[in-house]
Amino acid sequence: MQLKTLTLLGLASAANAQTLADVLAENAATLSSLTSFLQSEEVIYELFANAQDVTLLAPSNEALARLNATPLANELLSDPNYLTAFLAYHVLNGTFYASNLTSSPTQFLPTILDLAAYSNVTGGQRLQVQAADGGVSFLSGNGELSTVESANFNYTGGTIHIIDNYLTIPAPLPAALLEQNLTALVGAVTQAGVAETLTNARDITLFAPNNAAFDAIGNLVSELTVEQLTGILGYHVIVGQTVYSSQIEDGATATTFQGGDITLRVEDGSVFVNSARVVKADVLCANGVIHVIDGVLNPSNTDAEPNPAESTQAPAFSGASSTGGVPFTSGITVPTSAPAEPTATSGPDSGNGDDTPVEAGAAAQGAALGMAALFGAAVLLAQL
Ligand SMILES: *[C@@H]1O[C@H](CO)[C@@H](O)[C@H](O)[C@H]1NC(C)=O
Ligand SMILES: *[C@@H]1O[C@H](CO)[C@@H](O)[C@H](O)[C@H]1NC(C)=O
Ligand SMILES: *[C@@H]1O[C@H](CO)[C@@H](O)[C@H](O)[C@H]1NC(C)=O
Ligand SMILES: *[C@@H]1O[C@H](CO)[C@@H](O)[C@H](O)[C@H]1NC(C)=O
Ligand SMILES: *[C@@H]1O[C@H](CO)[C@@H](O)[C@H](O)[C@H]1NC(C)=O
Repeated sequence: MQLKTLTLLGLASAANAQTLADVLAENAATLSSLTSFLQSEEVIYELFANAQDVTLLAPSNEALARLNATPLANELLSDPNYLTAFLAYHVLNGTFYASNLTSSPTQFLPTILDLAAYSNVTGGQRLQVQAADGGVSFLSGNGELSTVESANFNYTGGTIHIIDNYLTIPAPLPAALLEQNLTALVGAVTQAGVAETLTNARDITLFAPNNAAFDAIGNLVSELTVEQLTGILGYHVIVGQTVYSSQIEDGATATTFQGGDITLRVEDGSVFVNSARVVKADVLCANGVIHVIDGVLNPSNTDAEPNPAESTQAPAFSGASSTGGVPFTSGITVPTSAPAEPTATSGPDSGNGDDTPVEAGAAAQGAALGMAALFGAAVLLAQL
């Protein structure tokens, strides 16, 4: 069966003789885990054979071992749709050679992940390119970094780069906000009852005030009606247009979900929204992008302007002051689950008296992950 597929792949390519199988075989030392996923089932080969003009970001053996040591491995195993989305996020839509992976201006390249349960970004969920010192990395969900170890393995479907870390699908709201510790915003969104609206909107740009920003207007928030709070929050979102930082031009205006316009400025190397400074740009989320800002925007004060020389801007609400605690945060907690470190395959006894053979369990899970990738994902990916 496999022979037949390989033969077909070979014939399909007059221009580029190198097949996916050739590339995997030549890189067995780094890609044997990925290869064992792919080589056990013909349908996977058909899938990649049909995918033309793509860039496969292939996680190394170490990357897949690390994945295997996290709870994510089990989640992927038990949910073929999730696994499909995960694999699709490792495929760029287009042939991007190493020379194409530049970051000035910053590029947000489209993947083929376009399943509504995992992404509401038109044209496919994006990956940020970060090129520095001759090296290239990709930033995925929660700012996870995956660095290209070796590049430009050209094959019939495009090209392949080997990466040292698996890619993380950007989280849906409000989980993506909690990953950034934006508990006050999550609390405010919850109190206003707009969390679902925000999550289900397509292609959003969310200017997300940090906790210090809410703290600075602490004395005013208890007086806000739900309607006023909803209006303020809606003034922080552009719906239907995902604006990454590299697309922001000085003096541009945008109409928010609330209806009022915001003004974007680029001054002294900083980006400002009205008078608030963007303190962290380009956090990817399932339905767009989040830029963290240091002030709460006021739809009744659209003319607020920054003073770029000041490190802290005055609140856009007159009479605002801190009450010594961050509002809206009661009951909102950040999940404590830290990403698991790679599990040592051998090492000193943990000393907890538990004799469960961890290594054997992990190996079995690896095999099962492979099987799910083949039977679940292949079928679903074929429907893309
Ligand atoms: C990659 O760079 C080459 C040379 O600059 C260019 O012709 C090609 O269009 C680029 N490919 C993509 C997918 O951007
Ligand atoms: C890839 O991009 C092309 C054109 O930009 C688009 O027509 C196609 O639907 C995309 N493919 C996937 C799988 O998203
Ligand atoms: C995408 O939007 C749909 C509603 O249009 C929603 O059901 C789905 O949960 C959203 N996906 C994510 C990942 O937030
Ligand atoms: C793959 O193709 C690109 C574009 O033609 C080329 O720059 C690169 O050197 C090729 N890779 C190898 C290993 O030959
Ligand atoms: C969130 O807060 C924790 C604890 O203070 C900190 O370790 C972590 O780096 C913060 N995350 C972000 C994205 O700021």
